[in-house]
Amino acid sequence: MSANSPAAVVVLAAGGGTRMKSNSLPKVLHEVCGRSLVGHAVAAAEELMPQQLVVVIGHMREKVQEHLAAHHPAARAVVQEEQKGTGHAVRTALEALAADGVELDGTVIVTTGDAPLLTGSTLAALAGAHADQGNGVTVLTAVVPDPFGYGRILRDGADGAVAAIVEEKDASDAQRAIAEINSGVFAFDAKLLAEALSRVTTDNVQGEEYLTDTLEILRTAGHRVGAVVAVDYRDILGINDRVQLAQARRLLNDRLLEKAMRAGVTVVDPATTWIDVQVSYEPDAVVLPGTQLQGRTHLGEGCEVGPNSTLKDTRIGAGAHVSNTTANGAEVGDFASAGPYAYLRPGAKLARKAKVGTYVEVKNSELGEGAKVPHLSYIGDATIGEGTNIGAASVTVNYDGVNKHRTVIGAHCRTGSDNMFIAPVTVGDGAYTAAGSVIATDVPPGALGVARAQQRNIEGWVERKRSGTASAQAAAAASEGAAEA
Ligand code: UD1
Ligand code: CA
Repeated sequence: MSANSPAAVVVLAAGGGTRMKSNSLPKVLHEVCGRSLVGHAVAAAEELMPQQLVVVIGHMREKVQEHLAAHHPAARAVVQEEQKGTGHAVRTALEALAADGVELDGTVIVTTGDAPLLTGSTLAALAGAHADQGNGVTVLTAVVPDPFGYGRILRDGADGAVAAIVEEKDASDAQRAIAEINSGVFAFDAKLLAEALSRVTTDNVQGEEYLTDTLEILRTAGHRVGAVVAVDYRDILGINDRVQLAQARRLLNDRLLEKAMRAGVTVVDPATTWIDVQVSYEPDAVVLPGTQLQGRTHLGEGCEVGPNSTLKDTRIGAGAHVSNTTANGAEVGDFASAGPYAYLRPGAKLARKAKVGTYVEVKNSELGEGAKVPHLSYIGDATIGEGTNIGAASVTVNYDGVNKHRTVIGAHCRTGSDNMFIAPVTVGDGAYTAAGSVIATDVPPGALGVARAQQRNIEGWVERKRSGTASAQAAAAASEGAAEA
């Protein structure tokens, strides 16, 4: 915990989010680039290493609480039973901490759970300015093209200092013309915050306790009220509806792709490439159009992914190629390849130089170094040894309707096309199997496994049974030709 770390960060996330028009998902659990809105707020807060990290929840609280426990266990959830305003929300958080015997001394940052573009460094800049200027409160503001709906910053004519914040609904026409708005993010002195909140009234159009009223209260009491203006107003954009959700996703995506490109990744078409916050990469990776990189996907040095691939929690090795592929929880080794049109499911592990080709699905299976499944196959619950080639249109029959069983195919095998491997079954090292075989019993190393009916040809059948058809005529012409020759 650093000397400058704030005493607490309070994330406000209790609101209803009615404009999202969702029956099942609270606003702050909507996702942008692989992280919930509240998750973005918590991640930014965590960068400050606060002594206390509190999230105020209310609307659909069970879902939010569960989500926080699963993904952000360091955050303490405090329930605001009724949403009586932002001031009431912060007061509820402070009271919950006090009830737990936590005495706050130093800076309290208040931020919102619906502004996913807000970064830890913006919060740190706010906290820094707050400390440097010796303020009682410092508000993060922005000058925006359309201030509608936001609280407006009222500055004092004489020195331009912040005098108060007036909400849209309480503002005069002249005040509504002000383009500098309240982001909803503040740094407070902990003691002054508690004091000011105890004096906030509900004397406003919405009948709520406004956190914003604390600025005027503190200024009137003789404390310094400061402001930090965001360099880019888009950093503070709050999400109220799904249109803004899409806009924020696009902005964050652009930011993440720019970072990747500056780190040496080629992104051929940023407009059709989507990347999550936890994706990592190495230089000279190439991402072709129409590709989504999700979760903790990692791109190794010099690999090429796409076009049209969706990779989730998947590790792509150095120099590997993955095209038109959907992968989830898979590992593609160095110089290995997948696709076009491959489906790699959880536990699919391709060793170095292994190949999974066209229309091939692989689940919970390991392919050894240089092993190949080139065409039209299903490989599930299998181990395939190094240097082995699986013939086209093969299936590991892993499911007996109740249980799953493993297929083990050794090293340097050559299995024929259209094989069914009825698991559990083992094919030994260096073995071959004949095309069209149903391999239900083990094949010893070096053996040829053949499991198919003997073919017999019934001479003249078509001319006898299908006379008059084009087939019969073709057959007759062929036998005349043979007779003349
Ligand atoms: C608030 C600010 C406004 C600012 C805007 C920035 C006030 C009075 N107004 O307005 O000046 O420009 O944010 O987006 O503070 N919340 C709770 N409990 C409550 C009420 C709200 O936790 O009882 C949470 C919401 O979930 C949300 C945040 O506080 O994350 C802001 O609340 P919201 O209702 O969106 O406030 P605005 O009207 O947008
Ligand atoms: Ca809002």
